[in-house]
Amino acid sequence: MGFFTKILLTSVCVAVLAFWWTKPSFHAESLRGARVLVTGASTGIGEQMAYHYARFGAQVVITARREKVLQQVTEKCMSLGAQKALYIAADMASESDPEKVVDFALEKLGGLDYLVLNHIGPSPFSMWEGDVEHIQWLMKVNFFSYIRMAWKALASLEQSKGSMVIVSSLLGKMQSPFVAPYSSTKFALNGFFGSLQHELAMKRSNVSISICTLGLIDTESAMEKVSGVTSMPFYPATDAALNIIMTGATRQSELFYPWFTYIVAATKHWFPSISDYFIRNSYTYNP
Ligand SMILES: NC(=O)c1ccc[n+]([C@@H]2O[C@H](COP(=O)([O-])OP(=O)(O)OC[C@H]3O[C@@H](n4cnc5c(N)ncnc54)[C@H](OP(=O)(O)O)[C@@H]3O)[C@@H](O)[C@H]2O)c1
Ligand SMILES: *[C@@H]1O[C@H](CO)[C@@H](O)[C@H](O)[C@H]1NC(C)=O
Repeated sequence: MGFFTKILLTSVCVAVLAFWWTKPSFHAESLRGARVLVTGASTGIGEQMAYHYARFGAQVVITARREKVLQQVTEKCMSLGAQKALYIAADMASESDPEKVVDFALEKLGGLDYLVLNHIGPSPFSMWEGDVEHIQWLMKVNFFSYIRMAWKALASLEQSKGSMVIVSSLLGKMQSPFVAPYSSTKFALNGFFGSLQHELAMKRSNVSISICTLGLIDTESAMEKVSGVTSMPFYPATDAALNIIMTGATRQSELFYPWFTYIVAATKHWFPSISDYFIRNSYTYNP
């Protein structure tokens, strides 16, 4: 016991120090005038990212399904200092909308510096009871639309030496109960964009990819699902949003937010049975 505690504590210290030392510094001015497309920006973390980019003086295009809400978000972006704020309503489950959205941004902004992929379709928080159609639909929204948009934007990002930012989750690194469909889409994203990171580096591409691993964030949709079933701590969407933006702007390949998600993911690999025990006991479930 004492031995394991020591190893754990040492690893925590080393990991935390490594984070601080290797973090490149963020310059807010670098985002002035930057041409940004943020998906899933009608609410939650996406909406907060739109406001941060606006405060930094960027030109933003936002998208989601609800036009009325998007309009309100763009108005607030303008009042916060965005050089431009435009919206386009789109359904990411469609085959054509993802590319249509990128085309819209490329045309209105004359190119892109940041492609921030963040949207997710709603998915139940419950045991999987055989609904394959839901997973097929969720894959379209949470995964296939991401790769279509990434491919469509790549040429412009090469020209601008731009960045792709992929908002993923701890549930894309570590399995957990009640989220099989959602977790599948996040593992798919991590697999795909992790592979693409290697390929772009080998091609000496100008484009950076940042994959963001988030823990529990206090957005309405997340809180509504987990309230009463888990005692996991949650973190503010506005702070998560800022950390994601800084990770993209500094071209870092990964973000772990909050920081301990790194430890949680590592523990799963080092001590799987301990990790499984804690995961299963962190939810209240009475069959
Ligand atoms: N909140 C958390 O605890 C947490 C934890 C880890 C990772 N994350 C990740 O963080 C990101 C944002 O999460 P969030 O909690 O901010 O989500 P959210 O509040 O539920 O927002 C989801 C966004 O996606 C849009 N959307 C939903 N279905 C869509 C569709 N079919 N087509 C186009 N847009 C669609 C929604 O707008 P409309 O309804 O208007 O379409 C909304 O703007 C996600 O990638 C999520 O996986 C969140
Ligand atoms: C990287 O950007 C330069 C312009 O600065 C461009 O000439 C070059 O083709 C780009 N690289 C790729 C792989 O497109």
